[in-house]
Amino acid sequence: MTRMRIVVGSVLLFAFSVLPTSAQSPHEGAIKARKAQMQLYAWNLGILGDMAKEKTEYNADAAKAAAASLSALARLDGSSMWPAGSDSTALPDLTRAKAESWTTYPAVVEKQKAFLAAVDAMNEAAGGGLDSLKGQMKAMADGCGGCHKDFREEKK
Ligand code: HEC
Repeated sequence: MTRMRIVVGSVLLFAFSVLPTSAQSPHEGAIKARKAQMQLYAWNLGILGDMAKEKTEYNADAAKAAAASLSALARLDGSSMWPAGSDSTALPDLTRAKAESWTTYPAVVEKQKAFLAAVDAMNEAAGGGLDSLKGQMKAMADGCGGCHKDFREEKK
């Protein structure tokens, strides 16, 4: 009997020791994926922002490419990346996505729609010269910020 318990105990120990540390939450992969999407937004918006601020020289092709990338990114199907229970109340160490995204749904969809309209306007404007790009920068940044204000926690 004692021997049996020891064997069972060591099997369990083994099982736990081989679990990858990423098994912290079943939602970790989804959270990583949506953060990656956000990072790609930031990268492409940064290219446009640097031109608008004249930190880099305006280049119509590069501006068009960044705007087209934003447009493609904004159209990714997000349904797998925002599973219920993957909010910052449940998983404060993993995510800054406020629970309101789920509890006030579909309010967040309205923010996404407003953002998409800004992305489309930027897609039209970006290749049309520096003034044209500058003219859409605020609406574009507001498209990101409008959602962050209600649905993303401040950085801790
Ligand atoms: C419809 C809502 C929404 C829109 C639109 C949106 N975001 Fe976000 N963003 C979020 C949420 C929610 C988070 C928190 C995600 C998390 O921590 O799981 C986030 C997180 C981020 C992060 C941090 C990512 C990380 O690695 O932790 C960056 C950077 C970011 N967004 C940039 C942008 C930019 C730039 C745009 C516009 C081009 C944008 N976002 C548009 C909701 C949005």
